[in-house]
Amino acid sequence: MKVLVIGSGAREHALCRCLSLDPDVTALHCAPGNAGIAEVAQLHRIDALDGEAVAALATDLGVELVVVGPEAPLVAGVADAVREVGIPVFGPSQEAAQLEGSKAFAKDVMAAAGVPTARSYVCTTVQEVEEALDAFGAPYVVKDDGLAAGKGVVVTTDLEAAKAHAADCERVVIEEFLDGPEVSLFAVTDGETVLPLQPAQDFKRALDGDEGPNTGGMGAYSPLPWADPKLVEEVLRTVLQPTVDEMRRRGTPFSGLLYAGLAITSRGVRVIEFNARFGDPETQVVLARLKTPLAGVLLAAAKGTLADLEALRWSDDAAVTVVVASHNYPGTPRTGDPITGLDEVAAQDAPFAYVLHAGTRSEGGAVVSAGGRVLSVTATGADLAEARRRAYRAVGRIGLDGSQHRTDIAAKAAEAAV
Ligand code: AMP
Ligand code: GLY
Repeated sequence: MKVLVIGSGAREHALCRCLSLDPDVTALHCAPGNAGIAEVAQLHRIDALDGEAVAALATDLGVELVVVGPEAPLVAGVADAVREVGIPVFGPSQEAAQLEGSKAFAKDVMAAAGVPTARSYVCTTVQEVEEALDAFGAPYVVKDDGLAAGKGVVVTTDLEAAKAHAADCERVVIEEFLDGPEVSLFAVTDGETVLPLQPAQDFKRALDGDEGPNTGGMGAYSPLPWADPKLVEEVLRTVLQPTVDEMRRRGTPFSGLLYAGLAITSRGVRVIEFNARFGDPETQVVLARLKTPLAGVLLAAAKGTLADLEALRWSDDAAVTVVVASHNYPGTPRTGDPITGLDEVAAQDAPFAYVLHAGTRSEGGAVVSAGGRVLSVTATGADLAEARRRAYRAVGRIGLDGSQHRTDIAAKAAEAAV
């Protein structure tokens, strides 16, 4: 099978790595990709947001499957453009991607489907904002309605800060604060059949101890030794299947990857958000544990034949990923700095630890930083403690001036398991 992956992050590197290990994949292409993806796929320089360009490339290459990684092309309708030229595509239509593209739309679907989520108000005026903040009280949760790469959400006990964030957005969703650990659960779906993957936990805050601003994600691990073994089954029944059914009922079936961001509260599971694509960095750890070859699963979702697929097989290993970010991330990051130590990791830590590239590019034979999240160092082990040791040993070999990473990814979960 010839496959084209759209995107350029560590998630796409993880997808490409996994696809490159699939014996059914005979050729792997990626657009636009990055310096790391270039090692496993042939790169093509096109604008990932340009549906016609992606469809034309897919046609030229004769690929049998296009996998759209990030949310921005999905919301821009890239999957629709590819479907129109008759090539199977893993990723929802523009309309269905509104599940991620608009928090207000997602709330509406959840209400119709009876999916448990935080109570919320959609606000467009100062008065509505003040009334909503007053109704829920502190801590305040204020979300930009549109796409904001994980950075449009402010959770604060400071009323003035909550109002200030709302004032910066055209339309906001203000909601009840959800207490309890967060879980990311992904499901592959063809619009009807829903196949949940293994749960993971993401670390959204920039600094150790969950301090600092929200980011796109600073690390992740899987499995979750502390979670109820019935969690996946419960979320499938109460969240994933009803949402997929409701989208189909509306005439906008959702196919691709449905990402449920969940809070495990004292009153039960609640949806924090939906995303319409694989999460980053959770994908790095979920795919590290997947034993079923990936291409066939994604193709079945694209073609509507998931019901015929055998159950997914998973490794009992644990996986941990640690994001190495540029100086100043999640603010405007510093870029163009050389990255060292990549060869050392490949020589000394493989196959148990490896580097997935995000914001990198090649510059005269060297690899330099080119974005906020630069690398995602991923490792597997018999348990989380071993995976953590391996991941951090590899992180220690990476040199990048001014870079930052969290030192506590999976630390609590690893201790509790011991
Ligand atoms: P979102 O972009 O909706 O996933 O929000 C980003 C992060 O903000 C989440 O991962 C949570 O850590 C936090 N968050 C969002 N909504 C809530 C909520 N209702 N209660 C508590 N924390 C929240
Ligand atoms: N890990 C958070 C996200 O992908 O949105």
